[in-house]
Amino acid sequence: MALNPVYPVTWHGDHVRLIDQTRLPGEFTYVEIRRSEDMALAIQTMIVRGAPAIGVAAAYGMYLGALEISAVDREAFLEALDRVGDRLAATRPTAVNLFWAIQKMRSAAQTSGAAVDQIRQLLLETAQRIAADDLRTCQAIGDHGLSALPPTPERLRLLTHCNAGALATAGYGTALGVVRSAWSAGRLERVFADETRPRLQGAKLTTWECVQEEIPVTLITDNMAAHCMQRGLIDAVVVGADRIAANGDAANKIGTYSVAICAQAHHIPFFVAAPLSTIDFSLTDGSQIPIEERDPAEIFQVGSVRLCPEGVEFYNPAFDVTPADLIAGIITEHGVVAPADLEAKLRPLA
Ligand code: MRU
Repeated sequence: MALNPVYPVTWHGDHVRLIDQTRLPGEFTYVEIRRSEDMALAIQTMIVRGAPAIGVAAAYGMYLGALEISAVDREAFLEALDRVGDRLAATRPTAVNLFWAIQKMRSAAQTSGAAVDQIRQLLLETAQRIAADDLRTCQAIGDHGLSALPPTPERLRLLTHCNAGALATAGYGTALGVVRSAWSAGRLERVFADETRPRLQGAKLTTWECVQEEIPVTLITDNMAAHCMQRGLIDAVVVGADRIAANGDAANKIGTYSVAICAQAHHIPFFVAAPLSTIDFSLTDGSQIPIEERDPAEIFQVGSVRLCPEGVEFYNPAFDVTPADLIAGIITEHGVVAPADLEAKLRPLA
Protein backbone atom coordinates (compact mmCIF):
# COMPACT_ATOMS: atom_id res chain seq x y z
CA MET A 1 0.00 0.00 0.00
CA ALA A 2 1.32 3.46 -0.89
CA LEU A 3 2.42 5.65 2.01
CA ASN A 4 1.57 9.31 1.55
CA PRO A 5 2.49 11.56 3.27
CA VAL A 6 5.78 10.21 4.61
CA TYR A 7 6.93 11.27 8.10
CA PRO A 8 10.26 9.65 9.02
CA VAL A 9 10.55 10.92 12.64
CA THR A 10 7.44 11.09 14.85
CA TRP A 11 6.79 11.32 18.58
CA HIS A 12 4.42 8.80 20.17
CA GLY A 13 3.85 9.75 23.81
CA ASP A 14 6.89 7.99 25.27
CA HIS A 15 9.04 7.10 22.28
CA VAL A 16 10.18 8.26 18.85
CA ARG A 17 9.20 6.24 15.82
CA LEU A 18 11.66 6.22 12.93
CA ILE A 19 11.08 4.80 9.48
CA ASP A 20 14.01 2.39 9.07
CA GLN A 21 15.64 3.85 5.96
CA THR A 22 18.26 1.11 5.81
CA ARG A 23 15.54 -1.39 4.83
CA LEU A 24 13.70 0.56 2.15
CA PRO A 25 12.49 -0.11 -0.45
CA GLY A 26 12.35 -3.87 0.23
CA GLU A 27 10.82 -3.61 3.68
CA PHE A 28 8.83 -0.81 5.25
CA THR A 29 9.42 -1.01 8.99
CA TYR A 30 9.54 1.30 11.98
CA VAL A 31 12.11 1.40 14.76
CA GLU A 32 11.01 2.58 18.21
CA ILE A 33 13.60 4.72 19.99
CA ARG A 34 13.30 5.12 23.77
CA ARG A 35 16.86 6.04 24.79
CA SER A 36 19.14 8.82 23.72
CA GLU A 37 22.00 6.41 22.99
CA ASP A 38 19.74 4.46 20.61
CA MET A 39 18.97 7.69 18.80
CA ALA A 40 22.69 8.38 18.43
CA LEU A 41 23.17 4.89 16.97
CA ALA A 42 20.19 5.33 14.64
CA ILE A 43 21.77 8.52 13.25
CA GLN A 44 25.21 6.89 12.95
CA THR A 45 23.89 3.80 11.16
CA MET A 46 21.61 5.91 8.95
CA ILE A 47 18.31 4.40 10.06
CA VAL A 48 17.47 8.10 9.98
CA ARG A 49 19.43 10.28 7.56
CA GLY A 50 19.20 13.52 5.60
CA ALA A 51 20.26 16.81 7.17
CA PRO A 52 16.95 18.18 8.52
CA ALA A 53 15.73 14.71 9.59
CA ILE A 54 18.82 14.08 11.69
CA GLY A 55 18.31 17.51 13.27
CA VAL A 56 14.76 16.57 14.28
CA ALA A 57 15.92 13.13 15.46
CA ALA A 58 18.73 14.66 17.56
CA ALA A 59 16.28 17.11 19.15
CA TYR A 60 14.11 14.19 20.30
CA GLY A 61 17.32 12.39 21.33
CA MET A 62 18.07 15.33 23.63
CA TYR A 63 14.62 15.03 25.20
CA LEU A 64 15.01 11.27 25.68
CA GLY A 65 18.39 11.97 27.27
CA ALA A 66 16.79 14.55 29.56
CA LEU A 67 14.36 11.88 30.78
CA GLU A 68 17.29 9.63 31.68
CA ILE A 69 19.08 12.24 33.81
CA SER A 70 18.47 11.59 37.50
CA ALA A 71 19.86 14.90 38.82
CA VAL A 72 17.26 17.17 40.42
CA ASP A 73 19.68 20.05 40.85
CA ARG A 74 19.34 22.41 37.87
CA GLU A 75 23.09 22.93 37.28
CA ALA A 76 23.88 19.22 37.50
CA PHE A 77 20.97 18.51 35.13
CA LEU A 78 22.25 21.04 32.58
CA GLU A 79 25.75 19.58 32.75
CA ALA A 80 24.40 16.08 32.11
CA LEU A 81 22.27 17.42 29.26
CA ASP A 82 25.41 18.90 27.71
CA ARG A 83 26.96 15.44 27.68
CA VAL A 84 23.85 14.05 25.95
CA GLY A 85 24.29 16.78 23.32
CA ASP A 86 27.98 15.94 22.91
CA ARG A 87 27.19 12.28 22.24
CA LEU A 88 24.52 13.12 19.65
CA ALA A 89 26.83 15.68 18.02
CA ALA A 90 29.53 13.03 17.60
CA THR A 91 27.38 10.92 15.27
CA ARG A 92 27.88 12.60 11.87
CA PRO A 93 30.05 15.66 11.12
CA THR A 94 28.78 17.28 7.92
CA ALA A 95 25.09 18.16 8.23
CA VAL A 96 24.96 21.36 10.24
CA ASN A 97 21.27 20.88 11.05
CA LEU A 98 22.37 18.29 13.61
CA PHE A 99 24.41 20.84 15.57
CA TRP A 100 21.82 23.55 14.98
CA ALA A 101 19.07 21.42 16.56
CA ILE A 102 21.24 20.34 19.50
CA GLN A 103 22.12 23.98 20.14
CA LYS A 104 18.43 24.98 20.02
CA MET A 105 17.67 22.34 22.64
CA ARG A 106 20.61 23.41 24.84
CA SER A 107 19.61 27.06 24.66
CA ALA A 108 15.99 26.25 25.51
CA ALA A 109 17.17 24.45 28.65
CA GLN A 110 19.79 27.02 29.65
CA THR A 111 17.65 30.11 29.19
CA SER A 112 14.74 28.65 31.11
CA GLY A 113 14.91 29.58 34.78
CA ALA A 114 12.52 26.73 35.61
CA ALA A 115 12.97 23.57 37.65
CA VAL A 116 14.19 20.34 36.08
CA ASP A 117 10.73 18.87 35.43
CA GLN A 118 9.60 22.01 33.67
CA ILE A 119 12.81 22.09 31.62
CA ARG A 120 12.06 18.54 30.47
CA GLN A 121 8.59 19.62 29.33
CA LEU A 122 10.12 22.62 27.56
CA LEU A 123 12.58 20.32 25.78
CA LEU A 124 9.75 18.14 24.48
CA GLU A 125 7.90 21.20 23.21
CA THR A 126 11.09 22.52 21.57
CA ALA A 127 11.72 19.23 19.76
CA GLN A 128 8.12 19.13 18.57
CA ARG A 129 8.40 22.72 17.36
CA ILE A 130 11.62 21.93 15.44
CA ALA A 131 9.77 19.08 13.70
CA ALA A 132 6.64 21.12 12.91
CA ASP A 133 8.68 24.10 11.70
CA ASP A 134 10.72 21.88 9.41
CA LEU A 135 7.59 20.53 7.75
CA ARG A 136 6.28 24.06 7.11
CA THR A 137 9.73 25.16 5.96
CA CYS A 138 9.90 22.37 3.37
CA GLN A 139 6.48 23.26 2.01
CA ALA A 140 7.63 26.88 1.62
CA ILE A 141 10.85 25.72 -0.09
CA GLY A 142 8.74 23.68 -2.50
CA ASP A 143 6.60 26.65 -3.40
CA HIS A 144 9.50 29.09 -3.79
CA GLY A 145 11.37 26.51 -5.85
CA LEU A 146 8.43 26.17 -8.19
CA SER A 147 8.60 29.89 -8.98
CA ALA A 148 12.35 29.65 -9.73
CA LEU A 149 12.10 26.80 -12.24
CA PRO A 150 12.58 27.60 -15.95
CA PRO A 151 9.35 28.88 -17.56
CA THR A 152 9.70 26.46 -20.48
CA PRO A 153 8.97 23.76 -21.29
CA GLU A 154 5.57 23.68 -19.59
CA ARG A 155 6.31 20.24 -18.10
CA LEU A 156 9.86 19.92 -16.83
CA ARG A 157 12.29 17.04 -16.54
CA LEU A 158 14.14 17.54 -13.24
CA LEU A 159 17.28 15.70 -12.20
CA THR A 160 18.05 15.13 -8.52
CA HIS A 161 20.87 13.44 -6.64
CA CYS A 162 20.69 11.42 -3.41
CA ASN A 163 17.47 11.78 -1.41
CA ALA A 164 16.43 15.22 -0.24
CA GLY A 165 12.84 14.15 0.18
CA ALA A 166 10.28 13.64 2.92
CA LEU A 167 12.51 10.88 4.29
CA ALA A 168 15.38 13.35 4.72
CA THR A 169 13.30 15.98 6.54
CA ALA A 170 10.32 16.09 8.90
CA GLY A 171 8.24 15.51 5.73
CA TYR A 172 7.73 16.85 2.17
CA GLY A 173 11.44 17.35 1.46
CA THR A 174 13.65 20.13 0.15
CA ALA A 175 14.74 19.20 -3.41
CA LEU A 176 11.92 16.66 -3.60
CA GLY A 177 9.68 19.31 -2.04
CA VAL A 178 10.31 21.37 -5.19
CA VAL A 179 9.54 18.26 -7.24
CA ARG A 180 6.31 17.69 -5.26
CA SER A 181 5.21 21.30 -5.72
CA ALA A 182 6.01 21.14 -9.45
CA TRP A 183 4.02 17.92 -9.73
CA SER A 184 1.00 19.39 -7.91
CA ALA A 185 1.14 22.46 -10.17
CA GLY A 186 1.19 20.36 -13.34
CA ARG A 187 4.73 21.53 -14.16
CA LEU A 188 6.55 18.23 -13.91
CA GLU A 189 6.95 15.65 -16.60
CA ARG A 190 9.30 13.39 -14.68
CA VAL A 191 12.16 13.17 -12.22
CA PHE A 192 15.49 11.63 -13.11
CA ALA A 193 16.98 10.11 -9.96
CA ASP A 194 20.74 9.49 -9.81
CA GLU A 195 21.29 6.17 -8.05
CA THR A 196 23.88 7.86 -5.74
CA ARG A 197 26.72 5.44 -5.11
CA PRO A 198 27.76 4.11 -2.71
CA ARG A 199 24.69 4.00 -0.44
CA LEU A 200 22.15 4.31 -3.22
CA GLN A 201 19.81 6.83 -1.58
CA GLY A 202 18.59 7.85 -5.05
CA ALA A 203 17.87 4.30 -6.20
CA LYS A 204 16.38 3.13 -2.92
CA LEU A 205 14.73 6.17 -1.33
CA THR A 206 14.02 8.83 -3.96
CA THR A 207 12.39 6.33 -6.32
CA TRP A 208 10.42 4.85 -3.38
CA GLU A 209 9.07 8.28 -2.43
CA CYS A 210 8.08 9.06 -6.02
CA VAL A 211 6.32 5.72 -6.38
CA GLN A 212 4.28 6.45 -3.20
CA GLU A 213 2.82 9.52 -4.93
CA GLU A 214 2.83 8.20 -8.48
CA ILE A 215 5.32 10.88 -9.55
CA PRO A 216 6.94 9.61 -12.78
CA VAL A 217 10.56 8.75 -12.02
CA THR A 218 13.44 7.42 -14.13
CA LEU A 219 16.38 5.88 -12.31
CA ILE A 220 19.84 6.39 -13.85
CA THR A 221 23.29 5.47 -12.59
CA ASP A 222 25.43 8.44 -11.53
CA ASN A 223 27.64 8.23 -14.61
CA MET A 224 24.63 8.67 -16.94
CA ALA A 225 23.78 12.23 -15.88
CA ALA A 226 26.07 13.96 -18.41
CA HIS A 227 24.75 11.78 -21.22
CA CYS A 228 21.13 12.57 -20.30
CA MET A 229 21.94 16.30 -20.28
CA GLN A 230 23.71 16.08 -23.64
CA ARG A 231 20.66 14.34 -25.10
CA GLY A 232 18.38 17.16 -23.92
CA LEU A 233 16.54 15.05 -21.35
CA ILE A 234 17.08 17.38 -18.38
CA ASP A 235 15.64 20.91 -17.98
CA ALA A 236 16.93 21.71 -14.47
CA VAL A 237 18.75 20.10 -11.54
CA VAL A 238 17.54 20.42 -7.93
CA VAL A 239 19.54 18.96 -5.04
CA GLY A 240 19.55 19.33 -1.26
CA ALA A 241 22.43 20.38 0.99
CA ASP A 242 24.00 19.33 4.27
CA ARG A 243 25.83 22.56 4.95
CA ILE A 244 26.15 25.79 2.99
CA ALA A 245 28.98 28.22 3.74
CA ALA A 246 28.42 31.99 3.89
CA ASN A 247 29.74 32.42 0.33
CA GLY A 248 27.20 29.92 -1.07
CA ASP A 249 29.50 26.89 -1.47
CA ALA A 250 27.25 23.91 -0.74
CA ALA A 251 28.12 20.49 0.67
CA ASN A 252 25.81 17.68 -0.39
CA LYS A 253 26.01 13.96 -1.07
CA ILE A 254 29.15 12.81 -2.87
CA GLY A 255 28.65 13.14 -6.63
CA THR A 256 26.67 16.39 -6.44
CA TYR A 257 29.69 18.43 -7.53
CA SER A 258 30.11 16.42 -10.74
CA VAL A 259 26.40 16.86 -11.52
CA ALA A 260 26.84 20.64 -11.10
CA ILE A 261 29.83 20.68 -13.47
CA CYS A 262 27.86 18.70 -16.05
CA ALA A 263 24.87 21.05 -15.66
CA GLN A 264 27.05 24.09 -16.26
CA ALA A 265 28.62 22.50 -19.35
CA HIS A 266 25.12 22.01 -20.78
CA HIS A 267 23.69 25.40 -19.67
CA ILE A 268 21.18 23.70 -17.39
CA PRO A 269 20.24 25.60 -14.20
CA PHE A 270 21.47 23.91 -11.02
CA PHE A 271 19.53 24.74 -7.82
CA VAL A 272 20.24 23.91 -4.19
CA ALA A 273 17.15 23.64 -1.97
CA ALA A 274 17.72 23.89 1.79
CA PRO A 275 16.34 25.53 4.91
CA LEU A 276 18.02 28.51 6.54
CA SER A 277 19.18 26.11 9.29
CA THR A 278 21.49 24.46 6.70
CA ILE A 279 23.46 27.68 6.17
CA ASP A 280 26.51 27.92 8.40
CA PHE A 281 27.40 31.61 8.46
CA SER A 282 30.40 30.85 10.69
CA LEU A 283 32.21 29.35 7.68
CA THR A 284 33.43 31.75 5.03
CA ASP A 285 33.72 29.11 2.30
CA GLY A 286 33.17 25.45 1.52
CA SER A 287 36.76 24.37 2.18
CA GLN A 288 35.97 24.70 5.91
CA ILE A 289 33.06 22.24 5.81
CA PRO A 290 34.00 18.97 7.55
CA ILE A 291 33.50 16.05 5.18
CA GLU A 292 32.45 12.74 6.69
CA GLU A 293 34.42 9.66 5.65
CA ARG A 294 32.54 6.41 6.03
CA ASP A 295 33.39 2.72 6.25
CA PRO A 296 35.24 1.59 3.08
CA ALA A 297 33.01 -1.50 3.02
CA GLU A 298 30.41 0.82 1.47
CA ILE A 299 32.55 0.98 -1.68
CA PHE A 300 34.46 -2.29 -1.85
CA GLN A 301 31.44 -4.52 -1.71
CA VAL A 302 27.86 -4.64 -2.94
CA GLY A 303 25.76 -6.63 -0.50
CA SER A 304 28.13 -9.39 0.51
CA VAL A 305 29.95 -9.50 -2.84
CA ARG A 306 33.44 -8.00 -2.85
CA LEU A 307 34.19 -5.88 -5.93
CA CYS A 308 37.98 -5.74 -5.89
CA PRO A 309 40.95 -7.86 -4.84
CA GLU A 310 42.70 -7.63 -1.49
CA GLY A 311 45.53 -5.09 -1.38
CA VAL A 312 43.50 -2.13 -2.71
CA GLU A 313 43.27 1.10 -0.71
CA PHE A 314 40.01 2.98 -0.31
CA TYR A 315 38.72 6.51 0.05
CA ASN A 316 35.05 6.98 0.88
CA PRO A 317 34.08 10.64 1.39
CA ALA A 318 30.32 10.87 1.93
CA PHE A 319 29.92 14.47 0.74
CA ASP A 320 31.47 16.95 -1.67
CA VAL A 321 31.32 20.72 -2.01
CA THR A 322 29.78 22.41 -5.03
CA PRO A 323 31.34 25.85 -5.55
CA ALA A 324 28.89 28.76 -5.39
CA ASP A 325 29.58 29.81 -8.97
CA LEU A 326 27.95 26.62 -10.27
CA ILE A 327 24.72 27.31 -8.35
CA ALA A 328 21.93 29.27 -10.09
CA GLY A 329 20.01 29.84 -6.88
CA ILE A 330 19.62 28.65 -3.29
CA ILE A 331 15.98 27.91 -2.58
CA THR A 332 15.08 28.52 1.06
CA GLU A 333 11.86 29.06 2.99
CA HIS A 334 12.54 32.80 2.60
CA GLY A 335 12.72 32.70 -1.18
CA VAL A 336 15.34 32.03 -3.83
CA VAL A 337 18.65 33.76 -3.26
CA ALA A 338 21.76 33.99 -5.46
CA PRO A 339 24.74 32.48 -3.59
CA ALA A 340 26.49 35.87 -3.61
CA ASP A 341 23.51 37.43 -1.78
CA LEU A 342 23.32 34.92 1.09
CA GLU A 343 25.18 37.14 3.56
CA ALA A 344 23.19 40.27 2.84
CA LYS A 345 19.75 38.70 2.48
CA LEU A 346 19.70 35.73 4.83
CA ARG A 347 22.24 36.32 7.61
CA PRO A 348 19.95 38.89 9.26
CA LEU A 349 17.22 36.20 9.44
CA ALA A 350 19.47 33.45 10.85
O1 MRU B 1 24.27 10.65 3.94
P1 MRU B 1 22.87 11.14 3.86
O2 MRU B 1 21.93 10.19 3.23
O3 MRU B 1 22.39 11.66 5.20
O4 MRU B 1 22.98 12.41 2.90
C1 MRU B 1 21.82 13.12 2.59
C2 MRU B 1 22.05 14.21 1.62
O5 MRU B 1 23.14 14.43 1.14
C3 MRU B 1 20.89 15.10 1.34
O6 MRU B 1 20.92 15.56 0.02
C4 MRU B 1 20.94 16.30 2.29
O7 MRU B 1 21.07 15.87 3.60
C5 MRU B 1 19.75 17.16 2.16
S1 MRU B 1 18.33 16.40 2.85
C6 MRU B 1 17.01 17.43 2.67
